[in-house]
Amino acid sequence: MNVDIALDFGSNSTRIMVFGKDEIFEEPSAAAYDVTGGELIAFGKEAFDMIGRTSDRIKIIYPIEKGVVTDFDAALAMTKYFLRKVTSKKMLSGRAVLNIPEGISDLEIYNLVSLVNFAGIKKVYLINTCKAALIGAGCDILAPRGRFCIDIGAGSTKLGVMSLGSDSSVRRAELCGGALDDLVIKYAKTKYNLLIGRHTARLAKEKLCSAREPSDLLFYKLKGRNIKTGLPFAVEISNFELLSMSENFAAEISLLIQGALNGARPEIVSDIYTNGIVITGGASDMTDLDRYIETRLDIKTVHPENSRLCVIKGCERAFAMLKNDEKLSPLRLASTKMS
Ligand SMILES: Nc1ncnc2c1ncn2[C@@H]1O[C@H](COP(=O)(O)OP(=O)(O)OP(=O)(O)O)[C@@H](O)[C@H]1O
Ligand SMILES: [Mg+2]
Repeated sequence: MNVDIALDFGSNSTRIMVFGKDEIFEEPSAAAYDVTGGELIAFGKEAFDMIGRTSDRIKIIYPIEKGVVTDFDAALAMTKYFLRKVTSKKMLSGRAVLNIPEGISDLEIYNLVSLVNFAGIKKVYLINTCKAALIGAGCDILAPRGRFCIDIGAGSTKLGVMSLGSDSSVRRAELCGGALDDLVIKYAKTKYNLLIGRHTARLAKEKLCSAREPSDLLFYKLKGRNIKTGLPFAVEISNFELLSMSENFAAEISLLIQGALNGARPEIVSDIYTNGIVITGGASDMTDLDRYIETRLDIKTVHPENSRLCVIKGCERAFAMLKNDEKLSPLRLASTKMS
């Protein structure tokens, strides 16, 4: 039996959906590399679980970051591994819908498409992240109405204003969930002389960061190494300690939205005012981020459940739209030649 798939290579997680099925495959976009033998030894969850527990011989890499292939061989081996897991013994029919972050170059798109081609899928359709996220969030993007989406991921934030199914303006920003992890690492280092790993920082952020003053006091135990003594060390930090960092993040996200709306036509802005801003991506799940944006910009927000899955769901639904009417499809066929 042949299968068509939707693909979202996130900086943090890769998601794959087999067309017509509801299940979503999701594993970390990670590969483990044996430095001595120069071999790739594990991928996805298996590689991710080695983080912080490996010897110096094993390095964990993320071969696709911010939608850009940074290590082609590792990305290809990882993609083949994921596809084998998803399709088991079934044959790929050679069609995939691939999510492309706004603002990446033609060469970067070409590399992504080549990766999918080399993994055995010959026909690749492309869709921009925000367009996919809007479809995945249940919006009718073909209606003659302005729409706005901000997708706050682990590696970048994508913003898209669109109307009648086409992008009227798109942009990408470096501010993202990963940037907040770096701030937590810096905070632990400067305040407690505590060196923590990215994974610990990320878990602390997800539990503690809140865009508005929290009503409850929460704690997270940061475990790492004392910079001065070199010994293992742990500190309990609270959500209030990370409040100003989280508020700054929310304020900067609001500025990004404001900047994108400033460039849009008045009729489109008026539609967006009525319909609200759609906020997707894992980092949009920060406690009260949506409410902070609403108050700060005086504009309604729509924050779908499982917001990090909107893009992959949108890729899959866009494929169904292609089947119904090719002319109205939000997808574009990828060229196999560099322009
Ligand atoms: N409750 C939460 N509060 C804050 N951040 C969160 C929360 N839940 C998840 N995140 C963050 O969301 C990010 C992952 O989002 P997502 O899965 O959308 O990224 P991605 O698609 O892999 O990356 P990108 O699209 O940027 O390439 C991580 O930085 C994660 O820590
Ligand atoms: Mg993403």
